[in-house]
Amino acid sequence: MVWPRRNHRAFVGSNPALYDFEGASQFNLLTLLGLREDQYVLDIGCGSLRAGRLLIPYLQRGHYYGLDPDRSLVLQGVKNEVGDDLLKLREPVFVHNADFKLGQVQQPFDFILANSIFSHASREQILLCLRLVAETLGGNGIFLASYYPGEKSYAGEAWVYPENVCYRSTDLVEMAALNGMHLAEIAWPHVNDQRWVMIARHEESLARFRLDDQDVLLAEQAARQAASKLYREITRDPVYGWLVRIRALLTELGFKKPRA
Ligand SMILES: C[S@@+](CC[C@H](N)C(=O)[O-])C[C@H]1O[C@@H](n2cnc3c(N)ncnc32)[C@H](O)[C@@H]1O
Repeated sequence: MVWPRRNHRAFVGSNPALYDFEGASQFNLLTLLGLREDQYVLDIGCGSLRAGRLLIPYLQRGHYYGLDPDRSLVLQGVKNEVGDDLLKLREPVFVHNADFKLGQVQQPFDFILANSIFSHASREQILLCLRLVAETLGGNGIFLASYYPGEKSYAGEAWVYPENVCYRSTDLVEMAALNGMHLAEIAWPHVNDQRWVMIARHEESLARFRLDDQDVLLAEQAARQAASKLYREITRDPVYGWLVRIRALLTELGFKKPRA
């Protein structure tokens, strides 16, 4: 069922005003690492197609695969971000389940992407995700995933949403190794202060997919510009002005401690 009142951009997290930027950042990361139109991409937890709206037109027909349990969210993405003409032209493949399974799909992937998935998933779910990656990543392929680093890894069993969960990077390295794969952190920025890791079957692949320092610097600059544009827009909003005034009044009346 499509929920008409759910905002497909707001639902996938971050500020909806950064939806375009976060999609572009994923797309730029993949193309800088060498993604070409004739390669195959699997977008795990593709949601409302934040990255898909750029990847679907770029890739050749049938080369974009999106996996997400939330069929209605993907449909909203298709309707609002992609449109019927592009859908017919590019024929992206969508699979819906929460078990990190691709069913009949036999395609080896060059790039697998999971943006803001480990930031909500349990250890068991990450292991299932990594098993799917181990089964479907091509020999020279690469898996890119974002996560929130923390001193302790989330030990719960449930998917947590919209709140976030953290993992120790050493635990992610261990989970990748349990599936016969290698993991390395990369410096690519994330608008939500998440970190990116790349995971490959062979250690040599990790070295082959290195990012240039200059590329990272430019990406960081673009992320800072996007964040300050958002800040300027928020602070110019009259509602924000009223909230600041109410806060000052409450402080004056002794209801709120002044900011340190
Ligand atoms: C924070 S959103 C990120 C969506 C997308 N990757 C993006 O960059 O906008 C998390 C997504 O994970 C999906 N999800 C939840 N459980 C999942 C599961 N078991 N397997 C795959 N995706 C899942 C949600 O439906 C949602 O679309």
